[in-house]
Amino acid sequence: MTDDIKRLHVITWGCQMNVYDSDRMIDLVAALGYRPVGEPEAADLVILNTCHIRDKAAEKVFSELGRLRDLKRASALQGRRMVLAVAGCVAQAEGAELVARAPFVDIVIGPQAYHRLPDLLARANAERGTLIETDFPADDKFAHFPQSARRSGPTALLPIQEGCDRFCSFCVVPYTRGPEQSRPAAAVVAEARRLVACGAREIVLLGQNVNAWHGEGAQGLAGLVRMLASIEGLERIRYTTSHPRDMNASLIAAHHDVGKLVPFLHLPVQCGSDRILAAMNRGHTAAEYLELIGQLRAARPDLALSSDFIVGHPGESESDFAETLALVHAVGFAQAFSFKYSARPGTPAAALPQVPEPEKERRLAALQALLREQQRAFNENCVGRELSVLFTGPGRRAGQIAGRSVWQQPVHAAGPRSLVGHIGEVKISAANPNSLSAILLAEEPAQA
Ligand code: SAH
Ligand code: SF4
Ligand code: F3S
Repeated sequence: MTDDIKRLHVITWGCQMNVYDSDRMIDLVAALGYRPVGEPEAADLVILNTCHIRDKAAEKVFSELGRLRDLKRASALQGRRMVLAVAGCVAQAEGAELVARAPFVDIVIGPQAYHRLPDLLARANAERGTLIETDFPADDKFAHFPQSARRSGPTALLPIQEGCDRFCSFCVVPYTRGPEQSRPAAAVVAEARRLVACGAREIVLLGQNVNAWHGEGAQGLAGLVRMLASIEGLERIRYTTSHPRDMNASLIAAHHDVGKLVPFLHLPVQCGSDRILAAMNRGHTAAEYLELIGQLRAARPDLALSSDFIVGHPGESESDFAETLALVHAVGFAQAFSFKYSARPGTPAAALPQVPEPEKERRLAALQALLREQQRAFNENCVGRELSVLFTGPGRRAGQIAGRSVWQQPVHAAGPRSLVGHIGEVKISAANPNSLSAILLAEEPAQA
């Protein structure tokens, strides 16, 4: 490695938006000579891209910072400067606390300010003391990101919307990502075309409340999905994460009409009790959620569903929790994420009387047992069926390749590496706890 190449180490926590943002930060500083390395030791720049969603996620940042302080000292003893940058939602929400608890951090940068990173870096290399950039600037950060020169993987992330105006009682996102902003359709379509030209076959449209997209140039998310579906070479379209209140008739119709829109939807419900749904400020009842699921399944009978759940929100009684289990039974999820409620500073629910920890643990265990059982049943039901798989990389064993079904299940099959980046037809031979085994039938005929 020559002297003008600088070493960059990035650690990313949190949602797919953070994964995308980390990639763009890597692109931004690549222009300044920084190249990613696997270890923080002897790095010239370390970026922690953080998540604030639950207490544990935020605590991880402070324990990682303790380790980095020692590495930074070791670097200084050898006459080298390690610049330490904290980005993401913890930076946004706890910038001041970060500086107080970890004064050795050089840069604190919020999610809306990443395009200012090169500037801050130049200043950090010249000055001492922590630089903080956590305003919500009015300019569009996406317009400032350089176009990545790197090849895209078969599945590419594409943010179309950022921020949230819903203010659920428990959630920090409206404070960390700011007010909802939608990118114009033309910018989204241009980025999608570029990703497909660079090898993407599947695009995941990202947003904190993605189905609230209301950008210029298309009629809502449904209109945008229809525009994207006309891109040749793009085979699969997904979007995440949606809010039940922002589902509408035209988006449901798109699930019927647009073949490239995968029959899989992550639609967080959080809980099944109307009392708690109201306390959470979710804006719908359990019956309305079930009605929506009915409409979606009528539009797309093979639609598989995923969700997020919180147990132990303030005020949740045993009978409220029983209603959550009843809702899970009524829907039948292919997969789901579930969490114990974590009180977040500054959110309305944090100020209310809390459900005792052992109670939360018991409810979480019961809910997870039921969700695991539903996931197992869904996977078992695939055995013997023919499915198409987008192959994304080599499998665990030699001669194997791995990919994803339209329902997001990991699938392994014996097959040639040349299939990676393509869709192949397989027959499912076995369901394992977290994946499916399959036999390759045929590669999809080449597109004309
Ligand atoms: N925008 C999405 C999800 C945002 S965060 C939505 O509308 O649902 C992802 C998930 O984390 C949430 O769906 C919720 O289940 C969980 N979550 C958010 N805040 C939480 C908290 N304070 N404690 C526990 N889980 C939380
Ligand atoms: Fe958080 Fe999602 Fe609610 Fe927005 S809609 S406040 S991101 S849980
Ligand atoms: Fe976490 Fe921020 Fe994403 S809090 S989940 S990184 S929007």
